[in-house]
Amino acid sequence: MSYTVASGQVIPIETKNSAMVLTVDKGHLLHVSYFGKKLEDKNDYIQFKQQLQQAGDPSGVSNAPYSTAGSRNLFEPAISVIHADGNTSLALQYVSSSIKKVSDDIVETSVQLKDPVYDFKVTLIYRAYQTENVVEQWAEILQNEQGDVRLNKFASANLYWYGRDFWLKQYHGDWAREMQPEVTKLSHGIKTLDTKLGTRADLFQPPIFMVSNGKAPEEDQGEVMLGSIEWSGNYRIDLELDNQNNLRVIAGMNNFADAYELAPGKLFKTPRFLYTLSQKGTGKASRDLQAWARKYRILDGQGSRLTLLNNWETTNFNFNEEKLKAILGDTKKLGVDLFLLDDGWFGNKYPRNDDHAGLGDWQANKKKLPNGIQAVVKQADQMGVKFGIWIEPEMVNPKSELYENHPDWVIKQPNRPEYYFRNQLVLDLSNPKVQDFVFGIVDSLFIKNPTLAYIKWDCNAVIYNAYSAHLKNQSELYVEYVRGLYKVLERIRAKYPKVPMMLCSGGGGRVDYAALKYFTEFWPSDNTDPLERIYLQWEYSYFYPAIASANHVTNWGSQPIKYKVDVAMMGKLGFDIPVSKLKPEELTFCKDAVKQYDQLSDVIWHGDQYRLVSPWNHDFASIMYVNTDKSKAVMFSYLVSNRYDAGSELPVKLKGLDAHKHYKIEEVNLYKGAKSKIKLNKENSYSGSFLMEVGFNPVVNAGRSSVVLVLTATD
Ligand code: DGJ
Repeated sequence: MSYTVASGQVIPIETKNSAMVLTVDKGHLLHVSYFGKKLEDKNDYIQFKQQLQQAGDPSGVSNAPYSTAGSRNLFEPAISVIHADGNTSLALQYVSSSIKKVSDDIVETSVQLKDPVYDFKVTLIYRAYQTENVVEQWAEILQNEQGDVRLNKFASANLYWYGRDFWLKQYHGDWAREMQPEVTKLSHGIKTLDTKLGTRADLFQPPIFMVSNGKAPEEDQGEVMLGSIEWSGNYRIDLELDNQNNLRVIAGMNNFADAYELAPGKLFKTPRFLYTLSQKGTGKASRDLQAWARKYRILDGQGSRLTLLNNWETTNFNFNEEKLKAILGDTKKLGVDLFLLDDGWFGNKYPRNDDHAGLGDWQANKKKLPNGIQAVVKQADQMGVKFGIWIEPEMVNPKSELYENHPDWVIKQPNRPEYYFRNQLVLDLSNPKVQDFVFGIVDSLFIKNPTLAYIKWDCNAVIYNAYSAHLKNQSELYVEYVRGLYKVLERIRAKYPKVPMMLCSGGGGRVDYAALKYFTEFWPSDNTDPLERIYLQWEYSYFYPAIASANHVTNWGSQPIKYKVDVAMMGKLGFDIPVSKLKPEELTFCKDAVKQYDQLSDVIWHGDQYRLVSPWNHDFASIMYVNTDKSKAVMFSYLVSNRYDAGSELPVKLKGLDAHKHYKIEEVNLYKGAKSKIKLNKENSYSGSFLMEVGFNPVVNAGRSSVVLVLTATD
């Protein structure tokens, strides 16, 4: 609740453990006066600032929760406009605030701000998820001036964090090299994380980051914030260390080439910025974020997932009905739930036999599939295997009937040569006709194949030559594209609310919490080498839960099949291997592992994750998952070095168990007939406290490069 003290009004935005406190001064200006651990006595929030011995802030507005341009603010603004009369100044004063209890867990605070000179209003909305310690915040902009107002910048959030030494962990990447971390101490000035790629927007830089206060991020201690912008297009995150050594974080859509004309009376809603603040390191922060994502964001985040066999790595574009029927047989043999047919099944005038042609022509290729997709689906139905299909509906190859018939549906400059990314162009989703077309692709697949059980939605190109034949104002294309995409996804989910869909973008080029509202899982990377995956999955796990990570066992990497399967199990297990080429013992191992996975998936998908031993600075990695009542846990350990004596010499301290419970330990996922090398006490009974204080040695070494232990409470 907001309250008033002598110096003015106080608006605390609290979760169970953290607080951001806004105060209103006598001049009606709003300030962020505190950002940190939740305090028992709310009056202490006000005392906090007295304790700071910092240089003064002559403008008096540097800690505004939504800084403006053109008036007193001397730093990077969250919003910058040109009013209807051409004036470029904006000042926002506090008008009122209100609090809504959305549920027992969610409290939403709205703060209304207004320019005293212009009829220009901004509402800041803070949605605080109490138990999960997550806050989503966004801005709603409304003007009633004498004409359009140009929004030159329109961020979602503007945090202000008091401190001295801040560290940033950010990520960069490219195809098959997603989620490469970099940690740096923030220096004064601005560090910007952004993308200008349009679609497949996160290919070089995903929209996630963490900032720690006081020291570099650590797993179990220290103050750290995990943040992300919920937007599937161009975003921009500015981290500015100011003259007082405090940190401003301004995040939103990227305003690059993107000024927006806002008509009078029309509401402009920014995407949500999301953060969790932890005083117990990245471990607690990521468990909170994962729990939030499962409960509130990822489609069916608390449900179950389908195991599958995909054909991309095995056949590429080269298959026919007969081959697919054989793979359906392999799906059955492996014991997974579903067969996923990948790229290459469509296009007739321009058959999709490689990535140069056919994209956009979503009719089954008559040569490969003379009896259509329906025949394969029928066969799958008869065999008791579910069927899923790949599409890339936002894209078009210039060599396609779609391109020939609708050149105006394609994003390209009218007076410049076309330029391609993977030989394709992006369809103009700002155009409602294109939205209908894209929705129709999915809809007609379901109408023709009512038992269709899964969609893999790919997105392989970026936007070059951004120009829409549909839009009047070209600078709105990047925003309207993403809004168009969401409109399509809304329609799909209204009609097909539950069907699992994988969010793929040539790998992890579009993993964000706005898109994941419509998807059950994402494809982290085309790089499925299990050694690489250990690092990739480790980094993704700071921000995303295992249930959403689609991990496939493939022919990438030369590790034994057990290593590959064990790594893929730390998420949503799938296969993309020529099953017929597996050795008999490998096939038996995989079949048994699929059955084992059915026993463990509940803990992996819905449990709390603990990162125990980091692969970045050890020669093995250990990760564990513990279910909610701490009665079952699974611990995965992998050798990541091939040096002579690499391995787990010492016990690994487990985490997240009940200190007072006793656990029996069993090694699973062993090759048939193999004996476990773990040393157990006679009773096979270990207290949670022993396992967490002293630890347990999974005995990882060159002969046992991958070990899976299951812990079951016996009391
Ligand atoms: C890129 C995806 O990441 C792959 O898994 C595969 O579906 C190909 N596209 C198909 O073109």
